[in-house]
Amino acid sequence: MLPRDLPGRDVYTFGDNPTAARRLALLARLFGPSARAFLGEWAPPSPRLVIDLGCGPGHTTRLLREELRPERIVGLDLSTGFLRLAVASSGPATRYVRADVSRDPLPVRSADLLYGRYLLAHLADPVRALRAWMGAVRRGGRVMVQETARLTSPVREFRRYYELLARLQRHHGQEPEIGARLGTLAASELPQATRVLHVGLRSLRLPATAMARLHVMNLRTWRGEPFVQRTVDAAELDELEAWLGAAATGGVRLPPVEQDLGELVLERG
Ligand SMILES: C[S@@+](CC[C@H](N)C(=O)[O-])C[C@H]1O[C@@H](n2cnc3c(N)ncnc32)[C@H](O)[C@@H]1O
Repeated sequence: MLPRDLPGRDVYTFGDNPTAARRLALLARLFGPSARAFLGEWAPPSPRLVIDLGCGPGHTTRLLREELRPERIVGLDLSTGFLRLAVASSGPATRYVRADVSRDPLPVRSADLLYGRYLLAHLADPVRALRAWMGAVRRGGRVMVQETARLTSPVREFRRYYELLARLQRHHGQEPEIGARLGTLAASELPQATRVLHVGLRSLRLPATAMARLHVMNLRTWRGEPFVQRTVDAAELDELEAWLGAAATGGVRLPPVEQDLGELVLERG
């Protein structure tokens, strides 16, 4: 388990239990194409050392290795459970290290590329994290980030799910749609040699069935949080869980979920 609710520590609200691990496998299938497109556009050529920030069970680490063929790749995560899964399916030139990626210094330095997706949204001090990441890049190396900027649906139940989740994350001092603010974060106090190469948005239309499957797994994990139990009626959570479970089977035709993915590329000059 991750350290939870300790003062001054980030709380990873999506958990690291077996359901959370299965959810990340599905997430990897859904968001593989957008990650590959971003890397294809902005990753430095022939990187020697790549760091996967918040690597989880290793799906992004494998994707980075396949796409970029670096000499070495290191996955960093706080969850020992996820790291165990990552090590069990590890490939060549790959190492996993338990580390808090929001703290300077990272255990690996002089990287050509640091990549992180859906991670800043879980950190209470994203600027401090960006500073730590820039500190681990060699000159000419890059930090690449993908984060949700907007997530919505024409369907009321999806919107309610997003609203409840956003409340929980805000309770922990986190920003669920931090992808909309990447330009502002990049303009804050980062190391002097930082150059902003790219700030952009990638618009995705995601199949409602697969999104409902992701969300129902996530809801089962976070509905047990004390804040949720205190502030949301259990009957409403039961109803939402049942609705998402039914939508996840694909029995009802639903319009796609709309997501804008914020993207940021920083380079150390
Ligand atoms: C949304 S998951 C993404 C996992 C993986 N990169 C992927 O896309 O499949 C975020 C990951 O960040 C990790 N994490 C959250 N806060 C962290 C921190 N402060 N330091 C290191 N890892 C952290 C979580 O354990 C989780 O594995």
